[in-house]
Amino acid sequence: MKSQALYTQLKEPEEQILWFAQHHVSAQKYYRCALLIAVLVTGLFCAMLVQLLIFPFLYVNPTANPEIAPYPDNRCDDPCRWVLVESIPEGVVYNENSTSNPSIFQAWLNLIRNASSSMDIASFYWTLTNEDTRTSEPTASQGKEILQELLKLPQRGVMLRIVVNPPSSPGQKNDLQALIQSGALIREVDLPKLTGGVLHTKFLVVDGKHMFIGSANMDWRSLTQVKELGATVYNCSCLVKDLQKIFKAYWTLGMSNASIPSPWPEEYATSYNKDTPLAVTLNGTSSQIYLSSAPPALCAQGRTGDLQAILSIINDARTFVYVAVMDYFPTMEYSYPKKFWPQIDDYLRKAAYERKVHVRLLISCWHNTDPSMFPFLRSLAAMRDNKTHYDIDVKLFVVPATAAQARIPYARVNHNKYLVTEKVAYIGTSNWCGDYFVRTAGSALIVNQTGAATDSNGQLTVQKQLQDVFDRDWNSEYSREISSFSQNKCKER
Ligand SMILES: *[C@@H]1O[C@H](CO)[C@@H](O)[C@H](O)[C@H]1NC(C)=O
Ligand SMILES: *[C@@H]1O[C@H](CO)[C@@H](O)[C@H](O)[C@H]1NC(C)=O
Ligand SMILES: *[C@@H]1O[C@H](CO)[C@@H](O)[C@H](O)[C@H]1NC(C)=O
Ligand SMILES: *[C@@H]1O[C@H](CO)[C@@H](O)[C@H](O)[C@H]1NC(C)=O
Ligand SMILES: *[C@@H]1O[C@H](CO)[C@@H](O)[C@H](O)[C@H]1NC(C)=O
Ligand SMILES: *[C@@H]1O[C@H](CO)[C@@H](O)[C@H](O)[C@H]1NC(C)=O
Ligand SMILES: *[C@@H]1O[C@H](CO)[C@@H](O)[C@H](O)[C@H]1NC(C)=O
Repeated sequence: MKSQALYTQLKEPEEQILWFAQHHVSAQKYYRCALLIAVLVTGLFCAMLVQLLIFPFLYVNPTANPEIAPYPDNRCDDPCRWVLVESIPEGVVYNENSTSNPSIFQAWLNLIRNASSSMDIASFYWTLTNEDTRTSEPTASQGKEILQELLKLPQRGVMLRIVVNPPSSPGQKNDLQALIQSGALIREVDLPKLTGGVLHTKFLVVDGKHMFIGSANMDWRSLTQVKELGATVYNCSCLVKDLQKIFKAYWTLGMSNASIPSPWPEEYATSYNKDTPLAVTLNGTSSQIYLSSAPPALCAQGRTGDLQAILSIINDARTFVYVAVMDYFPTMEYSYPKKFWPQIDDYLRKAAYERKVHVRLLISCWHNTDPSMFPFLRSLAAMRDNKTHYDIDVKLFVVPATAAQARIPYARVNHNKYLVTEKVAYIGTSNWCGDYFVRTAGSALIVNQTGAATDSNGQLTVQKQLQDVFDRDWNSEYSREISSFSQNKCKER
């Protein structure tokens, strides 16, 4: 949530299309070319026939490659368990009986302490102690404890690998230096240079079978001062091995002078995506799941892009689309020149207009909120109409702060990044703004439990649990309709 590095200008794809159009061949050249091509194609066709008829055993089916598709029909028998986890900032109190989830702090602690062979962490920046702010915040103790536990891993024989965006200030180097001294392997991934974005992904992988993914940074504030949401999945090696492919891509890009391979080698490819998801049971409920990744340049063959995941989920909704993200902009906000980027915005309006889907956006309001976000949100909310029943509703969530809490930099904000429909739960790491899908690295877990209300033991589905979290926040005293904000700014408290 720290301010992003300045994005450098990249060549837009349109430029390449223009270049192609300008290099058209003349008519004469065209006929000579056509003849040559006809001869080549015939030759190639004969060669293929010979190969297929005489050497059928030489034909390799890519999906038969066990590295890409290790399970027939993408079915896996792992006894996957899952827990929705949250950080609720100190001082945020909900009504009695409202839904509550285990803390991210406890989930991380259990994951780290239970690690026996390996731990991989994809992270944006590290400030787990409050050395970065030079304060002595008692609520930094959870972050310090996480760092202490991580420092013990290499001594215990657990291989700890970390990828991180290049630190932007000296205060972001302390934790990393301590980790290097403890024996952790760390690679800085220069995404600013590679794509003009940042490495914004946040996930942990333990022993190749457990994982955490969500909005929380490796920051003490993410455990006690910032509102966060994530998912932990246990005993689910088929899914987690797929997340490790995304990690491996970051790890490769962390080598000095690395460039982005195009295409990515086969070992990064996946067979789990929006069209052919992985079929597993989560706490006994049959579920279809996959992992998405951004930006497209980091997606190997078969990987669904993060934007495509979001658009397909919105498009599939028939009843409701609830979105909780910190920032929402239908623009390339961190690029120059600024560009309009209405992909998600179009799909939300289309859902409300064509299918009468109820759309709710819960966006965050804090002292760092860019006032230019308001007109775009007000424009979405303006679609709401009692006669036509178009229904897009926008609320802003304000995390309250005491005078002392208000002095903590980059804190007291709802940092959630998820989407829930009547069918699907999406838990991601990106804000909804063009740059995050075009340049910045992020990833998400998508769980589709269409048709299942509760699992075999009467436990709530992922979708229902996430919906409960959304409803709790939407109906809480901390959320207000955007129309009640008279100015385009979030009041300082
Ligand atoms: C919370 O649940 C308890 C037990 O079901 C009930 O007695 C109590 O009235 C509920 N409180 C509120 C505020 O709904
Ligand atoms: C390991 O994880 C389990 C399940 O989350 C938890 O109950 C247990 O306390 C953890 N062990 C340690 C040492 O944290
Ligand atoms: C994962 O599997 C192990 C071994 O079967 C079991 O002891 C452990 O409780 C499981 N963890 C969770 C969170 O279900
Ligand atoms: C990386 O590239 C720079 C500039 O091209 C070059 O000077 C440097 O030696 C390279 N470093 C490595 C480790 O290859
Ligand atoms: C969810 O699963 C159902 C049933 O398999 C499928 O029809 C639907 O397209 C899926 N939705 C998404 C968004 O993947
Ligand atoms: C729509 O109906 C609600 C409830 O009946 C009412 O409060 C609101 O003012 C109406 N909005 C408009 C724009 O007419
Ligand atoms: C799924 O199983 C885990 C581990 O047994 C448990 O902690 C969790 O509450 C369950 N999740 C749901 C949604 O019931």
